Amino acid sequence: MNELTLKPNPLPLRHLPRPRASRHVISPFRWLKIGLVRLRWRNARLIAEHLLGFALTEEGSALDMLRAAERESDPKRKRLFFRHSVDEARHAKMFALAARAIDRTAKAAPYASEHAKPQRLFESMPLDEFLVFVHDAESEALEKFDLLLEVFPNHPILSPLLRAIARDERFHARYSAHLLEKVQLSRGASAVRNARLRVKMRAAWATWRRAGRQLGDRLSNLLLSTFYFFALVLFLPFRRSALPSAGWKAASPTPKSRAALKEQA
Ligand SMILES: [Fe+2]
Ligand SMILES: [Fe+2]
Repeated sequence: MNELTLKPNPLPLRHLPRPRASRHVISPFRWLKIGLVRLRWRNARLIAEHLLGFALTEEGSALDMLRAAERESDPKRKRLFFRHSVDEARHAKMFALAARAIDRTAKAAPYASEHAKPQRLFESMPLDEFLVFVHDAESEALEKFDLLLEVFPNHPILSPLLRAIARDERFHARYSAHLLEKVQLSRGASAVRNARLRVKMRAAWATWRRAGRQLGDRLSNLLLSTFYFFALVLFLPFRRSALPSAGWKAASPTPKSRAALKEQA
């Protein structure tokens, strides 16, 4: 079988959104998610900012998959990782172009650029964990796109963009599921379960560290600003007394300059 045309494999596929037609009842939790998306994506500026954030995330994924393709020794996985990297690089460009088309002046949110950096995932974890990470990340991306398409079903830019990218993400979710199935067949279902648990713990730790860093930055900014204003107020009276009084003053010529004037006359 050509590895680039994998058939859907239901075994380890998780989190993939159900087809729209099968959703008769929308759960309150989903309503809440839709409400949050409507709030966070409420105008063109915010939409463009989110798309720029997506572009940076895709850029980071492209670099990580390229590193994985470079280091992977199995030729089949190498080709899949390489194609994955090319797809993500294309997505980054598509998101960035769409953002510019919606609002040319928009800028990505603070800290979003961190997602554009490679995380050295392939080197930092065993292959089974890396595959679980890829599969779960792709599945979550598909869920996010599905939610966005529910909020913006006919948006002239968002709708075709998300549909086109979701096709690639679906392929990424499927090939990683296919590779995970092989792990499961050779080492048992518990191997994939344990790998997923380790990936979740690693992700929780990374989120905690990221949130801590952002909170630390904000607190240090607040403390420095407070200190600056406190120092300003404290030293203001001394500065006033040291300064000459404001306004025009009549020039008082020195004796030396008077003599010079007489000489001139
Ligand atoms: Fe992508
Ligand atoms: Fe992807």
